Amino acid sequence: MTSPHRIAVAGRKGGVGKTTISCGLASILAHQGKRVLIVDLDPQSNVAFTLGVKLNVPGTAHLLMGKTPKGEQVDNNIVVYPGGAELESQDVQNLTRGLLAERISNLNNCDVIIFDCPPGNKHLEQMALMAASSALIILDSHPISLLGAVRVEKQLKAAREKGINIAPRHAVILSKINQSRKLDKSFPQMMPKYFPDTPCMMVHQDAGLFNAMAEQTPIMDYAPKGRGVENLKIVAKWIIDG
Ligand SMILES: Nc1ncnc2c1ncn2[C@@H]1O[C@H](COP(=O)(O)OP(=O)(O)OP(=O)(O)O)[C@@H](O)[C@H]1O
Ligand SMILES: [Mg+2]
Repeated sequence: MTSPHRIAVAGRKGGVGKTTISCGLASILAHQGKRVLIVDLDPQSNVAFTLGVKLNVPGTAHLLMGKTPKGEQVDNNIVVYPGGAELESQDVQNLTRGLLAERISNLNNCDVIIFDCPPGNKHLEQMALMAASSALIILDSHPISLLGAVRVEKQLKAAREKGINIAPRHAVILSKINQSRKLDKSFPQMMPKYFPDTPCMMVHQDAGLFNAMAEQTPIMDYAPKGRGVENLKIVAKWIIDG
């Protein structure tokens, strides 16, 4: 049996679109027949909210503590392990960074596992990167977010050089791009300068993605033909086909 694709959706800065991309990819891949598990590493538990399921059920913190939570079923092909405030506890922060990789190695009833990382929490982000087979580094067209993305990539590369077991491949996603904004127009051209040897994909600002989150509905049930889905299908293909 092949092991699941494991995707860490990371990026230091808050609000750049990590959860939108995690949930969007889950919806697209589920629609393509893949069984998807989303492991929410965010104490805010935004994945459960976004996909319209209960926030307060055993989820990621239970998984980390060695249990096998049932999670919340979104539709036939998506299960969510909600995040939650327990992820901020000292108990979780004291866990070794490789533990998430260990905990998910027993999960055999899914084809894809998506880790939605929280903003700013380097420890939880590192756990996800160490459990992942691919990492997506998300940034928007803000210089602070570029700085955060460069840092994540630097750490990934440094860890690989040290022989640490960490996501062996990664891509950068320029998120929430609005071509009518001056900065957003110039940003894509800057990517090769900051990420010369890294695949770079784009997710445009899209009303479908925004409203699907606000209305707590998976994007493929909300705006399956929108530009956001079109963009995310390219990312999904990169994940599955390499
Ligand atoms: N491509 C997009 N088009 C339109 N709106 C978007 C897009 N991506 C994200 N948004 C909106 O931007 C806001 C932040 O998005 P999201 O919650 O996905 O970011 P995040 O990086 O997960 O945030 P946090 O760091 O707090 O976890 C939300 O209101 C979301 O609907
Ligand atoms: Mg989020």
